[in-house]
Amino acid sequence: MKYVRIIFSPTGGTERVAEAITSAWPAGETVDLSVAGDEYEKYAFGPEDVALIAMPSFGGLAPKPAIDRLRRIRGGGAKCVLAAVYGNRAFEDTLVQMEDAAEASGFQVVAAVAAVAEHSIARQYAAGRPDEADRAQLAGFGKEILEKIKAGGGKPAIPGDRPYKKAGGGMTPKAGDECVACGLCARRCPVGAIDPKAPRTADGDKCIGCMRCVAVCPKKARKINGAALAAVSLALKKACSVPKENQLFL
Ligand SMILES: Cc1cc2nc3c(=O)[nH]c(=O)nc-3n(C[C@H](O)[C@H](O)[C@H](O)COP(=O)(O)O)c2cc1C
Ligand code: SF4
Ligand code: SF4
Repeated sequence: MKYVRIIFSPTGGTERVAEAITSAWPAGETVDLSVAGDEYEKYAFGPEDVALIAMPSFGGLAPKPAIDRLRRIRGGGAKCVLAAVYGNRAFEDTLVQMEDAAEASGFQVVAAVAAVAEHSIARQYAAGRPDEADRAQLAGFGKEILEKIKAGGGKPAIPGDRPYKKAGGGMTPKAGDECVACGLCARRCPVGAIDPKAPRTADGDKCIGCMRCVAVCPKKARKINGAALAAVSLALKKACSVPKENQLFL
């Protein structure tokens, strides 16, 4: 029996949630869904295995590269828990999209979690989450899920609509004069949108606006346009200001 964490976490919030949920689980491998060019077909599991699949919500949907890569993994009947991580606005159709992709890959969904983490664009929302109280609650969810798996329960109702909502456009960060062309952002971009030879810009057609390049830049050189950020912050204010609860679907 293997325990595996299958994670897409551009800026670390989803990873922190996944660590909390699985903190009482036996140790196991982690599959990073954010590696452009990885051969995801090489990951194969069987009916005795247990997987946590965790992704952020982008515009109420799962990020397309994460879904495409999950579909290439061979689930082989492994039990899986879905975790959608969102920045305190809403996760809408993220979990049902993950459910469809996990099942298409041969996983058997047994539980789902929706959890809040700091908003990776407008960082003033859900700042510092998952905090200590979140981590304790998520660890409790993880224990309840393991008990359900041992007892052999079936799939819960997963919230969300089909057809999924329409995807919106993202914002592509760019680097200013502080950029020293170290190339780290290009190496870590999940979709290869940054040319390592010209890293100040990015290919807007490939970019999914995930903010990984902003988070990893050691010179804090990458930013999204100030006016666009101010507009997004204002648009999110009402929906994001009241703290939301983590939810377990068992
Ligand atoms: C492009 C983009 C779209 C997002 N859309 C939503 C959203 O629709 N609802 C929400 O609550 N949070 C949204 N967020 C916030 C992220 O879901 C949240 O910060 C998540 O923790 C990011 O995961 P990460 O830290 O693993 O990168 C969005 C973030 C990005 C970058
Ligand atoms: S990580 Fe920062 S400093 Fe390095 S190339 Fe990218 S933008 Fe420039
Ligand atoms: S260029 Fe776009 S896709 Fe690549 S790390 Fe930056 S925000 Fe993410």
